[in-house]
Amino acid sequence: MSWFGKYIRSSVGAKHLMAISGLMLVGFVLAHMLGNLQIFKGQAAINAYAVQLKSLGGLLWIMRGGLVLAVLVHIFSAIRLSMLNSAARPVKYKKVKTDKSSFASRTMLWGGIIIVLFLVFHLAQLTLGGGPLQENFNLVDEFGRHDVYNMTVLGFKNVAVSASYIVAMLALCIHLSHGVTSLFQSLGLNHPKYNGMIAMAGPAIATLVLIGNCSMPIAVLAGWVKATV
Ligand code: HEM
Repeated sequence: MSWFGKYIRSSVGAKHLMAISGLMLVGFVLAHMLGNLQIFKGQAAINAYAVQLKSLGGLLWIMRGGLVLAVLVHIFSAIRLSMLNSAARPVKYKKVKTDKSSFASRTMLWGGIIIVLFLVFHLAQLTLGGGPLQENFNLVDEFGRHDVYNMTVLGFKNVAVSASYIVAMLALCIHLSHGVTSLFQSLGLNHPKYNGMIAMAGPAIATLVLIGNCSMPIAVLAGWVKATV
């Protein structure tokens, strides 16, 4: 087997793949959040932003392909790492030690499952054509653009939809608070001088994503952001 084949099959290779795909996904989550926050600027701003994204054409499809690949690699590496861990420890611990591992690190798998379920719901609601969740999908604004503003606002006016987003964002926050910090470790990026900062990076980015993403359903439910149709 080539050195590359050996590397990819090793636990170090799986950790690297997990970290690189995680980095791509957190980059997407931050960029997507910044784009969505334009909802606070109003209908014209977010609808124009959506048109700009669509106008990327081929590049958008390359980015979407990269995103799908990152999700698959991330899930595959998680399964592989947990298989390698159980193979290295054939006799299970009698008692799970919880004092040194954080709640976030112990719930990575469950957090990941909730995020995937959220993603399926989210894409069915706001991206894929057709389906029972998409009553507001075909709205267009006065310039004939896809009315992403009203589609999103009307979606969040449904308390159950908003509540499910908030629960998913809590799961995402817990997942990122451990994941972002641990990706530095997996890539060997640590230095006594910066370790304190690296330990804070996960919780800081996770809190930012939680506040940014939850601000949208909360603003709609509170009536601060209103539908225009
Ligand atoms: C409150 C939070 C969120 C809002 C308001 C939101 C809103 C949207 C909207 C409006 C679209 C459709 C865009 C369009 O058709 O132009 C979309 C697509 C998408 N969202 Fe979100 N989103 C949120 C959170 C998330 C999160 C946390 C993730 C990932 C974990 C995510 C992943 C995606 C993906 C993968 C797409 C499809 C992108 C594409 O078609 O290229 N979203 N989102």
